Amino acid sequence: MKDSISKASEIISRSDYVVAFTGAGISAESGIPTFRGEGGIWSRFDPEKAASAEGFLRNPADYWKLFKDERFPVMRSAKPNPGHEALARLENSGKLRAVITQNIDGLHQMAGSKHVIELHGSAKSAACLKCSKKYAIEKVYEQLAARDVPLCLVCGGVLKTTVVLFGEPLSQEALRESFLHASSCDAMLCIGSSLAVYPAAGIPHIAVDKGAKLIIVNAEPTPLDSAARVVLHGKAGEILPKIM
Ligand code: APR
Repeated sequence: MKDSISKASEIISRSDYVVAFTGAGISAESGIPTFRGEGGIWSRFDPEKAASAEGFLRNPADYWKLFKDERFPVMRSAKPNPGHEALARLENSGKLRAVITQNIDGLHQMAGSKHVIELHGSAKSAACLKCSKKYAIEKVYEQLAARDVPLCLVCGGVLKTTVVLFGEPLSQEALRESFLHASSCDAMLCIGSSLAVYPAAGIPHIAVDKGAKLIIVNAEPTPLDSAARVVLHGKAGEILPKIM
């Protein structure tokens, strides 16, 4: 592990253009459960019902119940951990140009990262499906005390978090920017992702195809381990500060 850590920091110190690609694993030590792997959310809830566009339109109450009982309380109290903070420091040093994240918890921004691309949107706000008016999530959470499905105060339409659900398209702007970073970087830090969900998981592939050096930090093996220069299996909150 020690050699791999010094190899990873060697690659980073030699790179001018580093990009980070993160998944739920980087927020695990902040108390936010991951989706897959041990105790993952999808082992307890059906993603079709709890996180698909189809499921949401069919029965928004299911989505909001999971959000109210599970997701929001945990995210509301979560704080950035040393893994998020290490990436913010690397960005301050001028080496890290962007964090491309699949996470919706806002912890990278809270840790001080400035250039964050949220591929799967953000749970920090909600929007009306009818008139697109946006709401801070705390305001929406208040409505959940009295109703199963929060409604727009202007037009009465159903509200949905500004999170990309399964079956919904990702923002073209976010994808374009991410592809550009992946094609231009010398090194990519791939942290806390099972690399199971596309098109997001295609981004580290682009980086490797374009000759970037890949450093993987993950608790378990990933499908891209064989393409990485360095693979560090362990906790991001412990490993990243050591690399930095
Ligand atoms: N440090 C590093 N890695 C960790 C840690 C940790 N402390 N804890 C767990 N992991 C690893 C797990 O081993 C797993 O491989 O993080 C990975 C998390 O994988 P997923 O739960 O699949 O999360 P992610 O890759 O972000 O999922 C992608 O799937 O459900 C959708 O939209 C959702 O954005 C999500 C997408």
